[in-house]
Amino acid sequence: MLVLGIETSCDETAVAVIGNGQKILSNVVFSQWVHKRYWGVVPELASREHIKTILPILKTALDEAKVTLKEIEGIAVTCGPGLVGSLLIGLSLAKGLAYSLKIPFIGINHLEGHIFANFLEYPDLSPPLICLIVSGGHSTLVYVKDKGDYRILGRTRDDAPGEAFDKVARVLDLEYPGGPSIDKLSQSCKSSKIRFPRAYLEEGSFDFSFSGLKTAVAIYVSKLSIKEKEEQKPCIAKGFQEAIVDVLVEKFFKAALELKVKKIALAGGVANNSYLRQKLSLESSKEGLELYVPSPILCTDNAAMIAAAGDFHLQRKESSSLNLNAFPHLSLDQKV
Ligand code: KG4
Ligand code: ZN
Repeated sequence: MLVLGIETSCDETAVAVIGNGQKILSNVVFSQWVHKRYWGVVPELASREHIKTILPILKTALDEAKVTLKEIEGIAVTCGPGLVGSLLIGLSLAKGLAYSLKIPFIGINHLEGHIFANFLEYPDLSPPLICLIVSGGHSTLVYVKDKGDYRILGRTRDDAPGEAFDKVARVLDLEYPGGPSIDKLSQSCKSSKIRFPRAYLEEGSFDFSFSGLKTAVAIYVSKLSIKEKEEQKPCIAKGFQEAIVDVLVEKFFKAALELKVKKIALAGGVANNSYLRQKLSLESSKEGLELYVPSPILCTDNAAMIAAAGDFHLQRKESSSLNLNAFPHLSLDQKV
C-alpha cells in the first residue's frame, strides 16, 4: 500500500510517501526559518509559511518517490496536537486529495507519529515497550502495550525539554533552535563543576518539570560579569544538559522496571541530543534493556512517521470522515 503522509503541526512543512508501512520512498521536510529572529514559533507566520510551501513540497515528495498522485492509496495527516492554523492547512490538503482521488484518509495524533518513527526504523520491533517522546512541545512517557494501545505514564507539567533548551540557549546568546547549539557547545567543557537542580517531583511520579531549571540557569548567568559568562558558557551548557538528561533517563528506566518491560524507545527532536543518546546506550546495557533510537531525520518532525502510523490504522480499515477537525490539545489516549 502506498501512503502519503502530511505533517504541518508546528514549524515543519513535511510530506512523505511510504510503501507497505516500512519503505520510505520520500521524506521531504521544510523547516521554517522565519521564526529564528523571534526565538520561538510565531503561529500566524507558521500558517502562512505552510500555505506557501505545502504544494511545492507535495510535488517534491511525489517526484522523489517517483509516483503520481493516482498511485497513492491512502493519506495520513496530523490532526493534533499542534497549532490550530498550521494543522488546518495539512488537514485541508489531505481532505481535498482524499475527496478528489476517492481514497481513504486518516487523522493521526502527532505523538503516535513520533512513536511510529521507531517501527519505521526498526521493522522487527514489537511492543510492549516504553517510549519517551521528548521534543520542543512535549515530554511524554508512554507505555506502548501494543501498536495503537497507549497508556500515558507521565508528561511535562510546564516546559517541554526542547523548550527549555531553546530558552537557555537564548540566555547564553546561542543560535535558535537551542538544542543543537547547547549540545555542540557543551562538548567543549572539559569539567563538570557547574551543577543545576533536578526536579524529580513527588515520589513515584513520572511527570516532568523543567521550568525551574531554566530559571536557575538564568539566575546563575545574571550574576556573572560579561567575561565570566563568556568563559563559563560551555560548562553552563553542559551543567544544564546534564540536569535535563539525568531526570529523563532516571524516569525512563524506572518506568521500564516498574512495568517489567525490556524494550525502551526514544522519539522527538530532543532524542537527537548526543549526551542523552550516549547515557542511554551506556546505561541501558547495564540495566539489561534493549534501546531503540530512530535516525535524526525520523526524530525531528517529519511526515514519514505520520504515514507509518497512518498505514497501520488504514490496514485495520480505520479512516476519518471529511468532517474531521484539528485538535490543538489532543492527548495520545484520546480518540478522534
Ligand atoms: O520533534 P521536534 O522537531 O518538534 C516538536 O514537535 O517540538 O523537536 C524540536 C526540538 C527543538 O526544541 C530543538 O531545540 C530540539 O528539538 N533539539 C534538540 C537537539 N536537536 C533538536 N535538543 C537537544 N539536543 C539536540 N541535539
Ligand atoms: Zn514533534
